[in-house]
Amino acid sequence: MVGGYQQINGYFYRMNIFNTIADTRSYLATVRNRPVTLGLVPTMGALHEGHLSLVRRSVEENHFTGISIFVNPIQFNNPADLEKYPRTLEADLRLLEPLLGENDFIFAPSVKEMYPIPETHVYRFGPLETTMEGAFRPGHFNGVGIVVNKLFRITQPDRAYFGEKDFQQLAIIRRMTEIENIKVKIIPCPIIREPDGLAMSSRNVRLTPEHRKAAPLIYRSMIEICRSAEGRYPDDLKNDIRSRIDSTGLLVTEYIEFAEESTLQPVKTFEHKGNVRCFVAVRAGDVRLIDNLRFFKGDERH
Ligand code: PAF
Repeated sequence: MVGGYQQINGYFYRMNIFNTIADTRSYLATVRNRPVTLGLVPTMGALHEGHLSLVRRSVEENHFTGISIFVNPIQFNNPADLEKYPRTLEADLRLLEPLLGENDFIFAPSVKEMYPIPETHVYRFGPLETTMEGAFRPGHFNGVGIVVNKLFRITQPDRAYFGEKDFQQLAIIRRMTEIENIKVKIIPCPIIREPDGLAMSSRNVRLTPEHRKAAPLIYRSMIEICRSAEGRYPDDLKNDIRSRIDSTGLLVTEYIEFAEESTLQPVKTFEHKGNVRCFVAVRAGDVRLIDNLRFFKGDERH
Protein backbone atom coordinates (compact mmCIF):
# COMPACT_ATOMS: atom_id res chain seq x y z
CA MET A 1 0.00 0.00 0.00
CA VAL A 2 1.39 3.42 -0.93
CA GLY A 3 -0.25 6.50 0.50
CA GLY A 4 -2.89 6.36 3.18
CA TYR A 5 -4.79 9.55 2.44
CA GLN A 6 -8.04 9.59 4.36
CA GLN A 7 -11.34 11.38 4.45
CA ILE A 8 -12.56 11.91 8.01
CA ASN A 9 -15.93 13.61 8.65
CA GLY A 10 -15.91 15.15 5.16
CA TYR A 11 -12.37 16.59 5.43
CA PHE A 12 -9.81 15.09 3.06
CA TYR A 13 -6.39 14.86 4.69
CA ARG A 14 -3.49 14.93 2.22
CA MET A 15 -1.40 12.89 4.61
CA ASN A 16 -0.48 9.25 4.96
CA ILE A 17 -2.63 8.09 7.85
CA PHE A 18 -2.53 4.46 8.88
CA ASN A 19 -4.64 2.71 11.48
CA THR A 20 -3.19 -0.77 11.19
CA ILE A 21 0.26 -2.23 11.77
CA ALA A 22 0.08 -4.10 8.45
CA ASP A 23 -0.60 -0.92 6.43
CA THR A 24 2.14 0.95 8.27
CA ARG A 25 4.64 -1.82 7.62
CA SER A 26 3.82 -2.14 3.94
CA TYR A 27 4.05 1.62 3.50
CA LEU A 28 7.42 1.67 5.27
CA ALA A 29 8.67 -1.12 3.01
CA THR A 30 8.03 1.13 -0.01
CA VAL A 31 9.88 4.15 1.36
CA ARG A 32 12.69 2.35 3.15
CA ASN A 33 14.12 0.59 0.13
CA ARG A 34 16.48 3.57 -0.14
CA PRO A 35 19.07 4.75 2.40
CA VAL A 36 16.79 7.13 4.29
CA THR A 37 16.45 7.95 7.97
CA LEU A 38 13.15 7.81 9.81
CA GLY A 39 12.39 9.98 12.83
CA LEU A 40 9.53 8.88 15.10
CA VAL A 41 7.53 11.16 17.39
CA PRO A 42 5.42 9.00 19.73
CA THR A 43 2.43 10.90 21.17
CA MET A 44 -0.91 10.31 22.82
CA GLY A 45 -2.50 13.06 20.72
CA ALA A 46 -4.10 16.26 22.08
CA LEU A 47 -1.15 17.91 20.39
CA HIS A 48 0.24 21.28 21.46
CA GLU A 49 3.26 23.40 20.58
CA GLY A 50 5.51 21.08 22.64
CA HIS A 51 4.66 18.13 20.36
CA LEU A 52 4.92 20.28 17.25
CA SER A 53 8.45 21.30 18.26
CA LEU A 54 9.39 17.58 18.31
CA VAL A 55 7.80 17.07 14.89
CA ARG A 56 9.62 20.09 13.39
CA ARG A 57 12.92 18.84 14.75
CA SER A 58 12.36 15.35 13.40
CA VAL A 59 11.37 16.71 9.97
CA GLU A 60 14.54 18.80 9.97
CA GLU A 61 16.87 15.96 11.00
CA ASN A 62 15.47 13.03 9.02
CA HIS A 63 14.45 12.12 5.51
CA PHE A 64 11.01 11.32 6.78
CA THR A 65 8.99 11.38 9.98
CA GLY A 66 6.27 9.28 11.56
CA ILE A 67 3.98 10.47 14.33
CA SER A 68 2.11 7.95 16.41
CA ILE A 69 -1.13 9.01 18.05
CA PHE A 70 -2.30 6.46 20.58
CA VAL A 71 -3.76 6.93 24.05
CA ASN A 72 -2.07 3.97 25.67
CA PRO A 73 -4.48 2.54 28.27
CA ILE A 74 -1.91 0.39 30.05
CA GLN A 75 0.18 3.36 31.18
CA PHE A 76 -2.69 4.97 33.11
CA ASN A 77 -2.67 3.90 36.74
CA ASN A 78 -5.79 6.00 37.32
CA PRO A 79 -8.88 4.92 35.27
CA ALA A 80 -10.50 8.39 35.64
CA ASP A 81 -7.40 10.00 34.11
CA LEU A 82 -7.61 7.61 31.14
CA GLU A 83 -11.28 8.34 30.64
CA LYS A 84 -10.79 12.12 30.78
CA TYR A 85 -7.63 12.21 28.68
CA PRO A 86 -8.39 14.59 25.76
CA ARG A 87 -8.90 12.83 22.42
CA THR A 88 -8.73 15.33 19.57
CA LEU A 89 -7.66 13.36 16.49
CA GLU A 90 -9.09 15.70 13.86
CA ALA A 91 -7.62 18.82 15.46
CA ASP A 92 -4.29 16.96 15.77
CA LEU A 93 -4.30 16.06 12.07
CA ARG A 94 -4.98 19.66 11.09
CA LEU A 95 -2.04 20.84 13.21
CA LEU A 96 0.24 18.27 11.62
CA GLU A 97 -0.84 18.76 8.00
CA PRO A 98 1.22 21.93 7.32
CA LEU A 99 4.34 20.43 8.94
CA LEU A 100 4.50 17.17 7.03
CA GLY A 101 5.91 16.24 3.63
CA GLU A 102 4.51 13.68 1.23
CA ASN A 103 6.49 10.75 2.67
CA ASP A 104 5.74 11.50 6.32
CA PHE A 105 3.03 9.49 8.01
CA ILE A 106 0.73 9.19 10.98
CA PHE A 107 0.10 5.94 12.78
CA ALA A 108 -3.14 6.08 14.76
CA PRO A 109 -4.05 2.54 15.80
CA SER A 110 -6.93 1.28 17.94
CA VAL A 111 -6.42 -0.37 21.33
CA LYS A 112 -7.33 -3.75 19.79
CA GLU A 113 -4.70 -3.27 17.09
CA MET A 114 -1.96 -2.58 19.64
CA TYR A 115 -3.14 -5.10 22.24
CA PRO A 116 -4.87 -8.01 20.49
CA ILE A 117 -4.30 -10.02 23.66
CA PRO A 118 -3.97 -8.70 27.22
CA GLU A 119 -0.44 -7.58 27.99
CA THR A 120 1.42 -9.40 30.75
CA HIS A 121 5.04 -8.39 30.21
CA VAL A 122 6.82 -6.91 33.22
CA TYR A 123 9.96 -4.81 32.81
CA ARG A 124 12.53 -4.47 35.55
CA PHE A 125 13.83 -0.93 35.29
CA GLY A 126 15.42 -1.07 38.75
CA PRO A 127 16.03 2.15 40.72
CA LEU A 128 14.90 4.27 37.75
CA GLU A 129 11.30 3.28 38.42
CA THR A 130 11.20 3.41 42.22
CA THR A 131 11.39 7.21 42.63
CA MET A 132 9.11 10.12 41.72
CA GLU A 133 6.67 9.16 38.91
CA GLY A 134 7.54 5.49 39.40
CA ALA A 135 6.67 5.64 43.10
CA PHE A 136 3.48 7.69 42.64
CA ARG A 137 2.15 5.96 39.51
CA PRO A 138 2.55 2.19 39.94
CA GLY A 139 2.67 0.37 36.60
CA HIS A 140 2.95 3.59 34.59
CA PHE A 141 6.48 3.07 33.32
CA ASN A 142 5.87 -0.58 32.55
CA GLY A 143 3.03 0.53 30.26
CA VAL A 144 5.22 3.20 28.65
CA GLY A 145 8.03 0.68 28.09
CA ILE A 146 5.65 -1.83 26.48
CA VAL A 147 4.00 0.61 24.09
CA VAL A 148 7.22 2.36 23.04
CA ASN A 149 8.86 -1.01 22.42
CA LYS A 150 5.90 -1.94 20.17
CA LEU A 151 6.09 1.41 18.33
CA PHE A 152 9.83 0.99 17.77
CA ARG A 153 9.38 -2.55 16.49
CA ILE A 154 6.56 -1.57 14.15
CA THR A 155 8.27 1.48 12.64
CA GLN A 156 12.02 0.84 13.25
CA PRO A 157 13.02 4.49 13.51
CA ASP A 158 16.60 5.74 13.39
CA ARG A 159 15.77 8.52 15.85
CA ALA A 160 12.93 9.01 18.32
CA TYR A 161 11.98 12.35 19.86
CA PHE A 162 10.69 12.90 23.41
CA GLY A 163 10.14 16.02 25.50
CA GLU A 164 12.17 16.64 28.64
CA LYS A 165 9.02 17.48 30.59
CA ASP A 166 8.74 13.71 31.07
CA PHE A 167 12.40 13.50 32.03
CA GLN A 168 12.11 10.23 33.94
CA GLN A 169 10.26 8.68 31.00
CA LEU A 170 13.28 9.47 28.81
CA ALA A 171 15.55 7.47 31.14
CA ILE A 172 13.06 4.60 31.20
CA ILE A 173 12.84 4.52 27.40
CA ARG A 174 16.64 4.52 27.07
CA ARG A 175 16.80 1.60 29.50
CA MET A 176 14.04 -0.24 27.62
CA THR A 177 16.02 0.04 24.36
CA GLU A 178 19.05 -1.46 26.14
CA ILE A 179 16.97 -4.32 27.53
CA GLU A 180 15.41 -4.97 24.11
CA ASN A 181 18.61 -4.32 22.09
CA ILE A 182 16.88 -1.76 19.93
CA LYS A 183 19.16 0.44 17.88
CA VAL A 184 17.51 3.84 17.93
CA LYS A 185 18.88 7.24 18.92
CA ILE A 186 16.73 8.80 21.65
CA ILE A 187 16.62 12.57 21.21
CA PRO A 188 15.60 14.62 24.28
CA CYS A 189 13.97 17.96 23.42
CA PRO A 190 13.57 21.01 25.68
CA ILE A 191 10.36 21.75 27.57
CA ILE A 192 8.13 24.23 25.74
CA ARG A 193 6.35 26.67 28.04
CA GLU A 194 3.40 29.01 27.85
CA PRO A 195 4.37 32.71 28.03
CA ASP A 196 3.62 32.65 31.78
CA GLY A 197 6.00 29.71 32.33
CA LEU A 198 3.54 26.81 32.65
CA ALA A 199 5.01 23.73 30.93
CA MET A 200 2.85 22.76 27.96
CA SER A 201 0.90 19.57 28.53
CA SER A 202 -2.12 17.91 26.95
CA ARG A 203 -3.70 17.94 30.41
CA ASN A 204 -3.59 21.76 30.68
CA VAL A 205 -6.88 22.07 28.76
CA ARG A 206 -8.60 20.30 31.66
CA LEU A 207 -7.56 22.93 34.23
CA THR A 208 -10.34 25.14 35.62
CA PRO A 209 -9.72 28.90 35.06
CA GLU A 210 -8.65 29.24 38.75
CA HIS A 211 -6.21 26.34 38.56
CA ARG A 212 -4.87 27.56 35.21
CA LYS A 213 -4.19 30.95 36.77
CA ALA A 214 -2.38 29.40 39.75
CA ALA A 215 -0.38 26.80 37.76
CA PRO A 216 2.53 29.05 36.58
CA LEU A 217 3.53 29.23 40.26
CA ILE A 218 5.01 25.75 39.88
CA TYR A 219 7.76 26.93 37.53
CA ARG A 220 8.16 30.31 39.23
CA SER A 221 8.67 28.70 42.66
CA MET A 222 11.30 26.30 41.32
CA ILE A 223 13.23 29.11 39.63
CA GLU A 224 13.05 31.60 42.48
CA ILE A 225 13.94 29.16 45.24
CA CYS A 226 16.71 27.47 43.26
CA ARG A 227 18.27 30.93 42.85
CA SER A 228 18.64 31.14 46.62
CA ALA A 229 20.41 27.77 46.89
CA GLU A 230 23.86 29.05 47.87
CA GLY A 231 24.98 27.32 51.09
CA ARG A 232 21.69 25.45 51.50
CA TYR A 233 20.64 21.80 51.34
CA PRO A 234 18.17 20.17 48.93
CA ASP A 235 15.76 19.35 51.78
CA ASP A 236 15.50 23.06 52.77
CA LEU A 237 14.79 24.09 49.20
CA LYS A 238 12.23 21.32 48.82
CA ASN A 239 10.34 22.60 51.88
CA ASP A 240 10.39 26.15 50.54
CA ILE A 241 9.21 25.18 47.06
CA ARG A 242 6.45 23.01 48.49
CA SER A 243 5.16 25.74 50.80
CA ARG A 244 5.27 28.36 48.04
CA ILE A 245 3.32 26.13 45.63
CA ASP A 246 0.81 25.02 48.26
CA SER A 247 0.33 28.58 49.58
CA THR A 248 -2.50 29.34 47.09
CA GLY A 249 -4.70 26.58 48.45
CA LEU A 250 -5.35 25.59 44.82
CA LEU A 251 -2.23 23.54 44.13
CA VAL A 252 -1.10 20.55 46.18
CA THR A 253 2.47 19.32 45.77
CA GLU A 254 2.61 15.55 45.44
CA TYR A 255 6.39 15.31 45.44
CA ILE A 256 9.36 17.55 45.03
CA GLU A 257 12.80 16.09 44.54
CA PHE A 258 16.35 17.06 43.61
CA ALA A 259 17.81 14.13 41.71
CA GLU A 260 20.84 13.31 39.65
CA GLU A 261 19.98 13.41 35.94
CA SER A 262 21.36 10.05 34.83
CA THR A 263 20.45 7.83 37.81
CA LEU A 264 17.38 9.83 38.95
CA GLN A 265 18.41 9.14 42.53
CA PRO A 266 17.74 11.93 45.07
CA VAL A 267 20.73 13.98 46.19
CA LYS A 268 21.29 15.04 49.79
CA THR A 269 23.73 17.89 49.05
CA PHE A 270 24.51 20.06 46.07
CA GLU A 271 28.18 19.02 46.23
CA HIS A 272 27.19 16.30 43.83
CA LYS A 273 29.35 15.58 40.77
CA GLY A 274 26.66 14.86 38.17
CA ASN A 275 24.00 17.23 36.89
CA VAL A 276 21.11 17.76 39.26
CA ARG A 277 17.53 18.55 38.33
CA CYS A 278 14.59 19.67 40.40
CA PHE A 279 11.46 17.56 39.76
CA VAL A 280 7.94 18.33 40.88
CA ALA A 281 4.46 16.82 40.60
CA VAL A 282 1.43 18.86 41.63
CA ARG A 283 -2.32 18.28 41.84
CA ALA A 284 -4.38 21.15 40.44
CA GLY A 285 -7.93 20.02 41.19
CA ASP A 286 -8.27 16.67 39.43
CA VAL A 287 -5.43 17.41 37.00
CA ARG A 288 -1.92 16.23 37.75
CA LEU A 289 0.92 18.40 36.45
CA ILE A 290 4.65 17.63 36.34
CA ASP A 291 7.60 19.87 35.63
CA ASN A 292 11.37 19.94 36.09
CA LEU A 293 14.27 22.33 35.95
CA ARG A 294 18.02 21.89 35.49
CA PHE A 295 19.67 23.03 38.71
CA PHE A 296 22.73 25.25 38.48
CA LYS A 297 24.64 26.10 41.63
CA GLY A 298 24.79 29.85 42.46
CA ASP A 299 22.34 30.06 39.67
CA GLU A 300 22.33 33.11 37.49
CA ARG A 301 21.29 31.11 34.44
CA HIS A 302 17.56 30.78 35.20
O1 PAF B 1 4.83 10.94 26.53
C1 PAF B 1 3.81 10.41 26.02
O2 PAF B 1 2.97 11.06 25.41
C2 PAF B 1 3.60 8.92 26.19
O3 PAF B 1 4.03 8.49 27.43
C3 PAF B 1 4.24 8.08 25.06
C4 PAF B 1 5.76 8.21 25.08
C5 PAF B 1 3.69 8.53 23.72
C6 PAF B 1 3.90 6.61 25.25
O4 PAF B 1 2.52 6.40 25.24
